[in-house]
Amino acid sequence: MVQDLLVIGTGISGLTFAIKVAEENSKCTITLISKNDINEGNTRYAQGGIAVVRNLKKDSTEKHIKDTLLAGDEGCDPDVVKFVVEEANLRLDELIKWGTAFDKKKEKLHLAMEGGHSENRIVHYKDQTGKQIQEVLTAKVKTFPNITILENHTLVDLITDHHSKTKGNRCYGAYVISQEEEKIIKISSKITVLSTGGAGSLYAYSTNPSIATGDGLGAAYRAKVQLEGLPFVQFHPTALRDKVNGNVFLITEAVRGAGGKLHNTQHEEFLLNEDPRGALAPRDIVARGIQKQIQKQKEKFVWLDGSSIPKTIWKSRFPNIYKTCSSIGIQLPQDPIPVVPAAHYFCGGIKVNQYSESQLKGLYAIGECSATGLHGANRLASNSLLEALVFAHRAAMDCLKSLQKPLPDNAFYKALPEWDGEGYSKNNTLEDVQTLREKLQEIMTDSVGIFKTNKSLKQAEEKINDIYGKVQQLYHQNELTNGLCELRNLVSIAYLITKQSQEIKENRGVFYNHDYA
Ligand code: SIN
Repeated sequence: MVQDLLVIGTGISGLTFAIKVAEENSKCTITLISKNDINEGNTRYAQGGIAVVRNLKKDSTEKHIKDTLLAGDEGCDPDVVKFVVEEANLRLDELIKWGTAFDKKKEKLHLAMEGGHSENRIVHYKDQTGKQIQEVLTAKVKTFPNITILENHTLVDLITDHHSKTKGNRCYGAYVISQEEEKIIKISSKITVLSTGGAGSLYAYSTNPSIATGDGLGAAYRAKVQLEGLPFVQFHPTALRDKVNGNVFLITEAVRGAGGKLHNTQHEEFLLNEDPRGALAPRDIVARGIQKQIQKQKEKFVWLDGSSIPKTIWKSRFPNIYKTCSSIGIQLPQDPIPVVPAAHYFCGGIKVNQYSESQLKGLYAIGECSATGLHGANRLASNSLLEALVFAHRAAMDCLKSLQKPLPDNAFYKALPEWDGEGYSKNNTLEDVQTLREKLQEIMTDSVGIFKTNKSLKQAEEKINDIYGKVQQLYHQNELTNGLCELRNLVSIAYLITKQSQEIKENRGVFYNHDYA
């Protein structure tokens, strides 16, 4: 099949992009693929919300810009920060028009506080903002007859000049696994959009779902597309220590914004020794402060004390956290919550321009898998859903224009080769794939986590190289499966993070190497 647009990933950025294009041009053919159910992905787990300047009596775009730049620790592109903050209201209004509900107080949007913000500006839906947005966008995307949705399809590789034996420096679509048919299909497309998220699954403890395996990042790397800032992996300071149904559960930063305090087991507000803003300092400072505290004490967690937040607020603003904590015996507000930092967000990714196009023509990247210049060395809380909305819009408008320009004809796309899977045998490798994935997580958590040293990075690189060799062997001998594809991407991203980390000779934002302290 030859499509005008192939969108890979169905979180807020991919869905918004597809809706925008379909609204503007009902003739444009769009295929949307998701690795799992359309609703599964990082977006639906986002609790916090969207940072937007709404209260002009107190807040201003200048203040939001300043907070973003400060959190980014001199790593942001100031032009990008400016237009993202300035376009925020337009994009939020659109989302509301499409049917997304946000919490209100006296007819006005309720604005929450989060770390690193100088004003209350987080627009949210209780503690389930992402889920609310995901459901509305999913329902809307299904109304367009020109959008084909393929669930349970895994990205294998992008189709480039390497496959077509041409020199156009373009992307021509992608090879994807149909998990149901157990075969690799070719989807040729004039424009390909990656909205595949980050790779939190590289770490043993992550707020991301297990499908966050950097599939777009890995495919872009193999297509020789520039990736930037991968060592800037943000750890969220407060994930519930105990896994719930096998998953890490996030405790939104908005809990600290509403008055929650962080205590060590001696009941001291230890973060005040790190930063006068304490629990509401930017995320990098808070996560490091907690990790440092954990390394000093016997207990491998700190307490999030929400006793100053009335029960009625817990129940109305944070119903999901209230319910989840209660299910494991933590009664709010009186019981403190044991929390630990967890891998949360990739500030870096595929380098893109101000319209989200990568250096490979016809390949766009939006959302967490992109490096737009907004986040710099440390993303400001609740700026990620905002970035996704702003860049999905910009990318959509740019793609519509690009489709009017001369492009290879349909015959060219049809003639692109099918996936060459010859010589592969049936899989007997599931166990190996899982074992190698766990080993990789152990290495990244122990040696390439919140704190690094030159020695830990060097040792990690050697171990990752060893795993890489094993994964290559599996890849060349076996039929590709979803699990093997994920592992192939994870090991590549682990290698890149570790390698690029060794090139960084100073501490900035979320990046911290003890040897440069
Ligand atoms: C949170 O709710 O604390 C997470 C929001 C974000 O990652 O920006």
